[in-house]
Amino acid sequence: MRQRLPDAGTPWTDLATRMKDMASGDVDWRHGRAAVYVFDPGPDVLAVQREAYTMFMAENGLGPRAFPSLAAMERAVVDFGLGLLNAPDDADGTMTSGGSESILLAVKTARDYAAAHGMDVTRGEIVAPFSAHPAFDKAAHLMGLKLVRVPLGADLLPDLAAMNAAIGPRTFMMVGSAPCFPYGLIEPIAALGRIAQTHGLWLHVDSCVGGYFAPFAAMNGEDVPPFDFRVAGVMSMSADLHKFGYAAKGASTVLYRSKELKDFQVFRNSNWPNGMMETPTLAGTRPGGAIASAFAVMNYLGVSGYREKAAQVVATRKLMEAGVRDLGFEVRGAPALMIFTFGSDEVDTLTVGEGLFARGWFSGRTQTPRGIHMMLSPGHRLVVDEWLLALKDARDEARPGEKFQGAVRYS
Ligand SMILES: Cc1ncc(COP(=O)(O)O)c(C=O)c1O
Repeated sequence: MRQRLPDAGTPWTDLATRMKDMASGDVDWRHGRAAVYVFDPGPDVLAVQREAYTMFMAENGLGPRAFPSLAAMERAVVDFGLGLLNAPDDADGTMTSGGSESILLAVKTARDYAAAHGMDVTRGEIVAPFSAHPAFDKAAHLMGLKLVRVPLGADLLPDLAAMNAAIGPRTFMMVGSAPCFPYGLIEPIAALGRIAQTHGLWLHVDSCVGGYFAPFAAMNGEDVPPFDFRVAGVMSMSADLHKFGYAAKGASTVLYRSKELKDFQVFRNSNWPNGMMETPTLAGTRPGGAIASAFAVMNYLGVSGYREKAAQVVATRKLMEAGVRDLGFEVRGAPALMIFTFGSDEVDTLTVGEGLFARGWFSGRTQTPRGIHMMLSPGHRLVVDEWLLALKDARDEARPGEKFQGAVRYS
């Protein structure tokens, strides 16, 4: 039945209690039970996130003349991102509300750039590996474009020959991920850059999960191949602040190799009563809290703080991978950062995943191949043994031959 707005208001203390009750059935992410959706950097960073957010909660990034504070914070955040991802001096970008918006904007910008350079972009095509995030499908759907998903190689990385072969006369853009969400693998961006350059195409690197993690893992000595603006042919990148930038939700960056490219993102309209409205992103109103929180957390952590968190997460992943192998599972591909997936031919891993869920452990799944998907945060280092015990129990409970019949859902 539809709920009616109450006639009388309710005191906040009562509401706060009620809302805490409502959260009692939610996944216990504060104790490492969520390996998706939430990024737990620890209580001190969460406090900075919250306080900075509430400090600028009412302010609006739509009005940089009214709020030069937010404009200055966004400028700093974008500059930090450009520096970490080795963008040239003339590069530029904007903050957005999240990875999906960053991707939508990169596609729109690449399309408008191609159109400005004489290409007919009606039903224009984007060539992406099967591992690309569905935000590219959404962007293509919204803009009347076509996303061509190319099957992966046996190593779960893009098949370069197949990517090359998928390029046609309508193609204006190519995509690679660093890392891809499904398996946590850094894709061969340098090779994709060469293909893009040969065909005069725009290469976007989706580094939504990796953009604020991979640079620090590399500084820590992890094997991270070049995936950013150092690679010729990379025209734009998406990198989320609300993932491993540890900012409050509603914050990502979309970055371009030059100011000229970025300008194709901006929408301008003065054909209405209130004069010129210039919006760099999809949003009109832009939450000041999201900008402030990203600015505060980045400055609070600094390079040393991010390096420490990256080291914790990578060490946790290695421990979990070893434990998973000891239990007879196979880790898919060679993950390098914070995501890994695993499966088994002996038991149905999706059934095991249900067993973990029943024990309070929430993670993603993969349907191709069937597997459990883990995206780790610093908080997970405290629960490695507990999680492995739960995994062992769930594995022992799953009967050989028994197959989970439900659909695999990410959300
Ligand atoms: C590689 C990648 N791209 C894009 C996205 C979409 O980001 P968002 O959920 O912030 O829209 C995600 C989200 O997990 C991702 O992992």
